[in-house]
Amino acid sequence: RRFSRVESGADLKDYFDRGDIASRENRWNFEVAWEVANKVGGIYTVIRSKAYVSTEEMGEQLCMMGPYKESCARTEMEEMEFPRGNPLLDAVNSMRSRGYKIHTGRWLVDGNPQLILFDIGSAAWKLDQFKSEMWEKCHIGIPHLDIETNDAIILGFMIAEFLEEFRNFAVTYSQTNELSPPRIVAHFHEWQAGVALIVLRTRLVEIATVFTTHATLLGRYLCAGNTDFYNNLDKFAVDEEAGKRQIYHRYCLERGATHLAHVFTTVSEITGYEAEHLLKRKPDIITPNGLNVKKFSAIHEFQNLHAVAKEKINEFVRGHFYGHIDFDLDKTLYFFIAGRYEFGNKGADIFIEALARLNAMLKHEKPDTTVVAFLIFPTKTNNFNVDSLRGHAVIKQLRDTINNVQQEVGKRMFDTCLRGNIPSADDLLQKEDLVKIKRCMFAMQRDSMPPVTTHNVADDWNDPVLSSIRRCHLFNSRHDRVKMVFHPEFLTSTNPLFGIDYEEFVRGCHLGVFPSYYEPWGYTPAECTVMGIPSVTTNLSGFGCFMEEHISDPKSYGIYIVDRRYIGLENSVQQLSSFMMDFSRLNRRQRIIQRNRTERLSDLLDWRTLGIYYRQARVKALQAVYPDYVDELTLYGSRNNLIFSRPHSEPPSPTSSRHTTPAPSVHGSDDEDSVDEETELKELGIK
Ligand code: UDP
Ligand code: G6P
Ligand code: GLC
Repeated sequence: RRFSRVESGADLKDYFDRGDIASRENRWNFEVAWEVANKVGGIYTVIRSKAYVSTEEMGEQLCMMGPYKESCARTEMEEMEFPRGNPLLDAVNSMRSRGYKIHTGRWLVDGNPQLILFDIGSAAWKLDQFKSEMWEKCHIGIPHLDIETNDAIILGFMIAEFLEEFRNFAVTYSQTNELSPPRIVAHFHEWQAGVALIVLRTRLVEIATVFTTHATLLGRYLCAGNTDFYNNLDKFAVDEEAGKRQIYHRYCLERGATHLAHVFTTVSEITGYEAEHLLKRKPDIITPNGLNVKKFSAIHEFQNLHAVAKEKINEFVRGHFYGHIDFDLDKTLYFFIAGRYEFGNKGADIFIEALARLNAMLKHEKPDTTVVAFLIFPTKTNNFNVDSLRGHAVIKQLRDTINNVQQEVGKRMFDTCLRGNIPSADDLLQKEDLVKIKRCMFAMQRDSMPPVTTHNVADDWNDPVLSSIRRCHLFNSRHDRVKMVFHPEFLTSTNPLFGIDYEEFVRGCHLGVFPSYYEPWGYTPAECTVMGIPSVTTNLSGFGCFMEEHISDPKSYGIYIVDRRYIGLENSVQQLSSFMMDFSRLNRRQRIIQRNRTERLSDLLDWRTLGIYYRQARVKALQAVYPDYVDELTLYGSRNNLIFSRPHSEPPSPTSSRHTTPAPSVHGSDDEDSVDEETELKELGIK
């Protein structure tokens, strides 16, 4: 299933003209997810990053819906009412008259889409009624104590009732304004939002529905429990497995939404395969995840950003490893893993194991190179580690003292010159200056080794990352060439230790390592790619498989794909450690070339390219409900041949460059591409 590239985003943009066609056709699109304006994980990234292409196509005919989560909504939503005479306003008012609290406005992200957020608490009094309907119509019983599912039920019913109301108003509205009847498509993401889909379909509301799974519930649970998942996919007794894990009701909701949807999609082929076995429906369309790719006007801007961000990480490292900075920061590489804390699913287990081997290899082969490995997984902590905070204070004191001394020396030098004398080094640095500096340096002594964690982890002894680090003896000793930093909190620029946000951190690192076992897509390596940072992924992640399919030699583009599918665990660990060692062998020039290549892949991941699959899913669903619906874009595309200019048989850009970019060229060889690369390097002032 090769992707077809939309030739020019601008053409599409002009063509859509912010919802012109949709409004002419009286076509409406609703996108529903738990993570709309509510950051949890990757689904938030899907909806948020896609908003600009969605609004380009749908304009004011698009509305995103989710739960009202105050902490996120307060900063991300600009509250406002819909204009009068709009069926959206009528439907919102009708819902409010039932006592539901609803926030409307716009999401402050690119595309600025319309938002409706539902206050779950305001409909909690109807929970029993909703649950009985779910039982009567679907025989799905929700346990009293499962708060997350109770919330999903309330949200699902609120949204379904809203859409039903909206449809009624939209029909009346089109009759009074002599418009064609409304065509509505609602796209639901993941099982929580799937509840609304079930309600709409069982109440026989005439709305086209799309359901997308970003992971299956059972898949996530089974993988987390050390199961040989992919080799047994066709053998699991799904009901029994769900029952054993006390998620049978959630599983039923997920499976119900999957089967009731007019169109069912998954984010990758591998999740499609999983869904076929665990949810018993093959996806109609694969909707791979894209990103909002922003190109810089200067081609090397992203390289400069790397250097600036890396300096901020250097500053952190100076503080964290104070007293032990006997390694050269210019020869230090920053590797990282980050995400929700699913230790095995995200591959943190094999990352730590492979780091231990890398440590041994570096000691032997490249003792002048140091790798600092960051592990960023939020977990429960009792605040920052005192030693960590102290390190940063001590380094700050040294820097301030040296700045003062520097100023004093400058003043003395100036005075000496004024008096007509040539300053001598001995007169400039006085004894008291040296005393001040020595005092700071003595404060930098430490008896202990630099800590492996920046915070006090609540369950230190049982924490899986810390336990593995202990088992592998990666204790940040002077001899270790691999140093560990576990940061058990997501990064934000307001963090007193590491005043840097996640995006800037990624830019400053050298390699993202995401050796996941269970990863339907995996945004983290995709985000690295568009920022021009090489990364490690696996052939069990949707992203890894997608890249493998579209690029003939991913490694030369800085995409290292670990085999976690066809070889055993030990071999995967070995492969990962040798990838990391290969990367550590690259010199600066080779790293720069590789970053340039990585960044070139970003077009492949742009929503302007991948958004087309969402369109296809919507069109298919609309045609299922309104058989006379003809997609104007398809007509337009075929008439003017503007949209799908590249035939399916012709590979897209990175694949087409196969023979001109052989793998070894990253080591500075003489391939055709290196002519460009030479120019690029010259511009960067690198010989
Ligand atoms: N992320 C973040 N801060 C961090 C680490 C990760 O905001 O410190 C974001 C990251 O940018 C990505 C998302 O969390 O968009 C994780 O998505 P992914 O698809 O990789 O995994 P999921 O959590 O959905 O399983
Ligand atoms: C970017 C900058 C260069 C810098 C380099 C460091 O390419 O433009 O000026 O030398 O990063 O690369 P490194 O891989 O050593 O962090
Ligand atoms: C899920 C998956 C992740 C994917 C994300 C967005 O949370 O775990 O792999 O990237 O959804 O689709």
